[in-house]
Amino acid sequence: MRISESRGRGSPRVAGFHEPETGSVQYVAACTATGRCMIVDPVQGYDPASAATSFELVRPLLDWIRAEGLEVEWVLDTHPHADHLSAADFVRGRTGARAGTGARVRDVAAIWGGLYGAPMEPEGAWDRLFEDGETFGIGECEVRVMLHPGHTLASVTFLMGDAAFVHDTFMGAPATGIARCDFPGGSAGAMWDSLRSILALPGATRLFVGHDYPSGREAEWESDVATEAARNPHLQEGREAFVAWREARDRTLPLPARMLAALQVNLHAGRLPQDGVLRIPLDRFPEEEGGPDADRAD
Ligand SMILES: [Fe+2]
Repeated sequence: MRISESRGRGSPRVAGFHEPETGSVQYVAACTATGRCMIVDPVQGYDPASAATSFELVRPLLDWIRAEGLEVEWVLDTHPHADHLSAADFVRGRTGARAGTGARVRDVAAIWGGLYGAPMEPEGAWDRLFEDGETFGIGECEVRVMLHPGHTLASVTFLMGDAAFVHDTFMGAPATGIARCDFPGGSAGAMWDSLRSILALPGATRLFVGHDYPSGREAEWESDVATEAARNPHLQEGREAFVAWREARDRTLPLPARMLAALQVNLHAGRLPQDGVLRIPLDRFPEEEGGPDADRAD
């Protein structure tokens, strides 16, 4: 866990919890004046080999919130994750927070309902589905929802004061990565437009990314707009070159090991099926070759 301190009134204190199994980063963002906070992208454990689930990965975050005396108002998912299961519903039950995500999760549910051969019904699972541009408050901090598709149709950034939770857009250590765009509904062109939208924020805006896959170094997850604009190697040659690079790289990436289990859970705020049985659609995705970074699943 690492803390990024508040920069003054309206600027949240942010705690990031890196989860090494899937390289995911879970966040707590708190208004320092009121002790109210939101949780972004909490992770539910899932072992693909045994299909065992657990909540051990999110417990350190909840313990920290309790130790700090924070009150959780919202638990949010930035998008329907493909690489891990969400713990939003579990966190809602533990904290009394409301659960929210982007409204276009309805469109992702339509795609995956077809793939699973069963209706996916996010409406009843979430307390709120946020439209692009909606705002809400966490104590004295304002949060703005920004639709940023590309990685998925439904991806949203939550901009809380000067802290943007940019999910799977920028990735990893500062100015290194961009998330893949090849899941159903993904689009490298839409990703480029989303990246430009993020870079239109003030240069000092803190960016908190969804993943890092460190190898022989500490995990990193905080960047800023000015750093990405100046140094991210994938942004320097324009939209056409970016789309060509992203699509070529995506052709080398295998599916995330947890994807077919994850979507049906994550479209429903991380709620497990009532009968405890998941659906696995067969022969719907072509096999990929896998490249040198085949472990980078998301
Ligand atoms: Fe993702």
